[in-house]
Amino acid sequence: MITTKTALETKEFAKKIGERLKSEKILYLTGDLGSGKTTFTKGIAEYLGIDHFTIKSPTYTYIRKHVTPDGDNFYHIDLYRIESVDELLMHEIEEIMEAKNSLIVIEWADRLPEKSHEGINIVFKYKDASTREIKVNE
Ligand SMILES: Nc1ncnc2c1ncn2[C@@H]1O[C@H](COP(=O)(O)OP(=O)(O)OP(=O)(O)O)[C@@H](O)[C@H]1O
Ligand SMILES: [Mg+2]
Repeated sequence: MITTKTALETKEFAKKIGERLKSEKILYLTGDLGSGKTTFTKGIAEYLGIDHFTIKSPTYTYIRKHVTPDGDNFYHIDLYRIESVDELLMHEIEEIMEAKNSLIVIEWADRLPEKSHEGINIVFKYKDASTREIKVNE
């Protein structure tokens, strides 16, 4: 478990986790509203060399794809605005998980009906306005 005191520290921590992304492929993020999941994702995107990563979560897009300079596909999946993941979306997510060269971060991963693929679980906790606790469960 680590404690971060600024958004920048959370991004720096994300970069350390990013080093493990190629062997692990999927990061499942859960935790309170505003606890830093998107900030962390931005750090991952920076680590992967993605330019112009927009952190806003668009209302109707649950899955955003970015291509890294290495030619990997980085998927940012944000399930916040979804009540339940239906079969069609679950199927789409599984296809992404099974595809070669996919690196995936899923925000609000607890909304997935099933966790069919291994990954790193990261739990975020809002402590106060600038403090967050981040726990990595292997
Ligand atoms: N230590 C910190 N780590 C991360 N973010 C922090 C920290 N301190 C302050 N912040 C601020 O908290 C906010 C975190 O928002 P962010 O969108 O990353 O959270 P989130 O978990 O993705 O929220 P949501 O549940 O809406 O998806 C940002 O405005 C960020 O600047
Ligand atoms: Mg978010």
